[in-house]
Amino acid sequence: MDEPEVNDGLISDSKEAQLKNLLYLKDLHKDEIIQLLDQSDHFLKSNQPDEFVELLKNQSIASLFFEPSTRTSASFQLAAKRLGAETIMIDEKTSSATKGESVLDTIKNLEAMGVRGFIIRTGDKNLFAPLIDNVGSNTSLISAGEASISHPTQGLLDLLTIRQQKSSFDHLKVVIMGDISHSRVARSLTEGLNILNAANITLISPEEFKPNMANFPNTDFEKDPNKGLSDADVVVALRVQKERIESCENGLSLDQYSKIYQLSQDKLELCKPDAIVMHPGPMNRGVEISNEVADGKQSVILKQVENGVAIRMAVLTEILKQ
Ligand code: CP
Repeated sequence: MDEPEVNDGLISDSKEAQLKNLLYLKDLHKDEIIQLLDQSDHFLKSNQPDEFVELLKNQSIASLFFEPSTRTSASFQLAAKRLGAETIMIDEKTSSATKGESVLDTIKNLEAMGVRGFIIRTGDKNLFAPLIDNVGSNTSLISAGEASISHPTQGLLDLLTIRQQKSSFDHLKVVIMGDISHSRVARSLTEGLNILNAANITLISPEEFKPNMANFPNTDFEKDPNKGLSDADVVVALRVQKERIESCENGLSLDQYSKIYQLSQDKLELCKPDAIVMHPGPMNRGVEISNEVADGKQSVILKQVENGVAIRMAVLTEILKQ
C-alpha cells in the first residue's frame, strides 16, 4: 500500500471536490479520506483557538439526536463553535417530534429558518434514504450514527488515531473485538480501513455477535481471541450493546463473555508489544475491557476523543464551506 499522502493541511478550494453529505465512509474516495485526516491534523496543530472562527461564520447547523450520545454530540457542538457556526440542538423529548412531527418536516421548518447542515443520530435504518431525496438542494446531512449501519465520523477519528500512532496502514493488522453484529463503529472503521488498504482486518467475537460477513468485506473472522489477537498492531474493543440486544442472545451471559472476550492485560500481551488499544466509548469497564488496559500506557482512548473534535471540524468545514 502507498504511504498515507500528507498535504499542507489546507482544504482544497475546488467546488467539484466538496462533499454534499456524509453518511457512509464506503462512499468516499481514498483521496477524500486522506484530505479529511490531513485537515484534522492541521486543526490539531494550531495553538490559536480563534484561528478558525471565520470558516463557518454565518452558517447555522442543527443537531437532531434520536439516540443518546455524549462524545459525538459534544464534539460536533464544540467543532461547530470553533468554526464560528451557530448551532441548534433539537431534543427529541422536548421538540414537536413528541407531537408526531416527522424528521423531514422538522428539517423543512429549520431549512426555512436558514439552517443548512443537519447532524443526525438515529436508530432507524430507513431514515436517511428518503431524507436525502426530499431535503432542499442546499441542505447537507451528516450522520452522527445510524442504527448498526454507520458511524462515519467515528470511523474517521479512528483512522486518524491509527495514522498518528502507526504512520502507515501498510502491513497493519487491526483487530476489532466484541459485539460486532450491533456495531456501526465496526462497520465504518472497516469501510475506511479497506479504502486505505490496511493489510489485515480481523473481527473477533462469539458466534452470537458474529455479523453478516457480507457487510465486512476483506475481513477475517475468529472466535478465539488467543488466535485472533496474535501479532495485532491495533486492537479496538467494542462495547456490548445491551440496548440493541433484543433477547438474551442465545443465553450468553456477560460473565461468560467477559471471561473469554474481555481485553485484559494478558490478552493484550498476545498482540505486538507496541500495539495500541482503542475503544469508541462509552466503555463497560470490567466487561469488554479491563481498567488496567483502558487506563494503561498502550491506550489511546482519550486521544480518540480529542481527535473527534478535529475530525468533526474537518467534516463540517468540507461540507459547509462556501
Ligand atoms: N463513540 C460514540 O459514538 O459515543 P457517543 O455515543 O457518546 O456519542
